Amino acid sequence: MASMSLVQILKIDFSVNFRKGKYIVGSYRIANYFAQHKHKWARMLGYPFIKYYQYFIVWHLGIEIPVNTRIGVGLSIGHGVTVVINEQAVIGDYVFLRQYTTIGNKQVGSGSPIIGNHVEIGANSVILGAITIGDNVVIGAGSVVTKSIPSNCVAYGNPLKIVSKTIIN
Ligand SMILES: CC(C)(COP(=O)(O)OP(=O)(O)OC[C@H]1O[C@@H](n2cnc3c(N)ncnc32)[C@H](O)[C@@H]1OP(=O)(O)O)[C@@H](O)C(=O)NCCC(=O)NCCS
Repeated sequence: MASMSLVQILKIDFSVNFRKGKYIVGSYRIANYFAQHKHKWARMLGYPFIKYYQYFIVWHLGIEIPVNTRIGVGLSIGHGVTVVINEQAVIGDYVFLRQYTTIGNKQVGSGSPIIGNHVEIGANSVILGAITIGDNVVIGAGSVVTKSIPSNCVAYGNPLKIVSKTIIN
């Protein structure tokens, strides 16, 4: 992803989202692009856009994805309501976040999850702590995830049940 231009990343993101998701993910990408830019002049130029993102997307839509959170290409936001992600979380390529997903730490200042590629997260899921979610993982609706999940698994429930099978192609 490091070698891809913003336009290339946006094209991929748009291809995996419907209208509201395009608006949210597109806004995040542009805000993230400016916030992470190596040149100070670009960060200053992007400052109004970052403020727009924080006001409309974070405050009003409740999509709390901090501008500095590292997220791979092909981020998909289902329904576009209430998602909370810690700034320290790391999210891979082609991750699908459904409504009311929380990805964060167990206590203020402790570690946050690292999520792999091609991960689909069910509605109302809570993923907490310094854990790792592998590639090609499906997390069921309403799951509470506090331990790592290996690649190619379906995991669901509270307490979490991990089943070794792949649903995502
Ligand atoms: C986890 C999931 C992918 C599993 O799908 P599946 O493999 O077809 O699972 P099945 O329906 O065959 O169920 C298998 C077992 O898991 C249980 N199960 C499935 N999803 C579960 C969940 N989210 N929480 C708790 N148990 C769950 C079923 O009750 C069943 O239990 P049993 O074997 O004791 O009867 C799916 O159920 C899910 O939660 N998807 C998230 C989708 C979502 O969030 N949609 C919102 C749309 S707006």
